[in-house]
Order: sequence, then C-alpha cells, then structure tokens
Amino acid sequence: MSSQAIWWMLAVTAVALLSCVSPAALSVQNFGEMDVDLDVESERAQFNSTCKCGKKFTRIVGGTETQVNAYPWQAALFHKDINSIVCGGSLITNQHILTAAHCFAPETPLTAENMVVHLRDHDLSNPSETNLVERYAKTIHIHKHYDRPTIQNDIAIIHLNKTVPISSRLLPVCLPSSAKLKYGNEEAIATGWGATSTGGDTTNTLQEVKVSVFSRKDCLNRTAFEPIRITRKMLCAAGLDGQGTCHGDSGGPLIYLDQEQNYDQIGITSFGHKGCGDKVLPAGFTRVNKYLRWIERHTTEGVYCSGFTFP
Ligand SMILES: *[C@@H]1O[C@H](CO)[C@@H](O)[C@H](O)[C@H]1NC(C)=O
Ligand SMILES: *[C@@H]1O[C@H](CO)[C@@H](O)[C@H](O)[C@H]1NC(C)=O
Ligand SMILES: *[C@@H]1O[C@H](CO)[C@@H](O)[C@H](O)[C@H]1NC(C)=O
Repeated sequence: MSSQAIWWMLAVTAVALLSCVSPAALSVQNFGEMDVDLDVESERAQFNSTCKCGKKFTRIVGGTETQVNAYPWQAALFHKDINSIVCGGSLITNQHILTAAHCFAPETPLTAENMVVHLRDHDLSNPSETNLVERYAKTIHIHKHYDRPTIQNDIAIIHLNKTVPISSRLLPVCLPSSAKLKYGNEEAIATGWGATSTGGDTTNTLQEVKVSVFSRKDCLNRTAFEPIRITRKMLCAAGLDGQGTCHGDSGGPLIYLDQEQNYDQIGITSFGHKGCGDKVLPAGFTRVNKYLRWIERHTTEGVYCSGFTFP
C-alpha cells in the first residue's frame, strides 16, 4: 500500500468517525492547550555552532542543477519487510527525525521494530545513486495527546539508535520561530515521495510542490474540511501552479524560507482529501511552532545545528 493511500484512508475514516461526534464533544478536544511544562529544571537543547541548519544542497551537473539531496534533511520511513515507503520525515538533530504520529497509528503497518529510516535518498529505485544512510529506531515518542478522530497533535519524534554524520548533503532542517504567528498567503514547499495523481503510486524520486498557506479563517471557509476541526495548532495549504498537495507524504516536512535564507520546517504533512491535484482543497499540517517545547524536551540527547533558537 502506498503512503498516499494511508494518508487518504486516515482522512476518510477521520471524517466518518467525526460525523458521529457531537459539536459539544469537539469543543473540548484541544488537549494541547493543557500541555503546560511545569518542569523548569528541564534540560535544554544542545547546539553545534559549526553547522548551520536549513541550507539547501545545490550542485551543478552538466550545466543543470541536480535535485539529488537538494533537501538534505528529508527522510523516508521504510517498512523493511514489505520494502515500501510508508511515511516521510525530517532530520532535526544528529539523531532525531520529526514525523507525524499517525505514521504509527494501529492501522499503519509501521513500528519501531520493522522500520528503517533512509536518509540521503533520492531515487528510491536506485540505491546506489547517493550514499544512502540507513538508521533504526531506538525509541519513538508519540505525542501523548495525539487524537486520531480529530487528528489533533499529529506529531512524533524518532530517536535513532546511531547518530548520522552531518554534512552539506545530510543536514538538519531549522525549526521555526515561535514568534511567527501568521503564515497566511505565504509560499511554502512540501516535499515527499507521494503519488502524483489520484490513486497513483508513489514516485521514485523525491518531489517538491510549492504551496500557498491559508490563514485559519480562509481555511475554515473552505467547507471541504468539515467536520475536521482546524485548530490554531494546524496549518493548511494548497498547491500553486496547478499542482496538488498530494505529492507530499504523510509525516514529511512543509518548509518555509525565512529572512536569513534558511529553511524552517513550519508544518508536518498530516491529512488531506481523497482526491488529489485539486488546487482549491487544502491539505492539513501540524503547526510545528506550537510544539517547540515538546520537541526540545524529547531531543535533549541530540545535537542541533545553529540557525534558530528555542523559546
Ligand atoms: C558539528 O558539525 C560539523 C559539520 O559542520 C560536524 O563535522 C561535526 O561532527 C558536528 N558535531 C556534532 C557533535 O554533531
Ligand atoms: C540499531 O538497531 C538495529 C536494528 O535493531 C541493529 O541491527 C543495530 O545493531 C543497532 N545499532 C546500535 C548501534 O545499537
Ligand atoms: C468565504 O469565501 C467566499 C468565497 O470566496 C466569500 O464570498 C466569503 O466572504 C468568505 N467568508 C468568510 C467568512 O471569509
């Protein structure tokens, strides 16, 4: 089964389940607001001042720019028994991958035991193309308030059992600023090996799709997401240039070029529509800057590259 099918299946079942939930029940679902950190002594993140996060890798081959490893933080989460990609993810420290919680939901075949994380991959059908880095999970932290019916807090962190060698081709993405409150009408990029057409298979080479982020109001106004509740801890975006957002795999990054010309991961691909390639219907993303303290608490053993700060 392609990762896209899983993404859609999740969205469809979410809609089906939600229609049985009363609006009163929905209004108390925003668990994240209660996620207050009382542990003032908690450890802070470690940074490596030698490396800079969020720098796209560029190389010219025969006069044209190659896309191989252009997004050096992109991860592919493989199920090793069926040898198939299930989700995307992103490198955030020298040993942690950020992804979506629903990648490990009961209906998804992926577990810490059967997963192999590919980094520096590009063409999935050609393992010799890049110096593929394979890693296994030590632990997976799934947000304890991840709620499947309402797709709240769809965020997880994979702690790899071995660090990765940081280089220009294998580099963490930056985390976004907590101060950036509005992304409405801004351009962002979703990357993944997702399907290129409705019902299509996953592609072999990493795809990127330019999207426009909607303000929450504009997103809510697109009735297509009823009755999934779009909260302040989500972002929604739709493709530009006639491209659909189905290109991005679940768990993969939504990135934004900040004022210092670094790529910040502002979203995690979370849910979408059954159809694909629709410019009008936006896809839903977990809003990363609402989870910065949660991410920091679960990555204290890792080393970040400099280029951003935690709140
Ligand atoms: C810090 O980053 C440099 C690359 O810029 C890398 O060679 C070095 O191993 C990194 N150190 C750690 C602890 O990750
Ligand atoms: C990491 O996990 C894999 C798969 O379980 C195992 O083969 C490997 O030896 C482990 N590596 C380390 C450094 O623990
Ligand atoms: C929703 O969108 C429609 C059509 O684009 C527009 O006419 C309407 O004013 C919008 N409503 C709100 C509340 O933004």
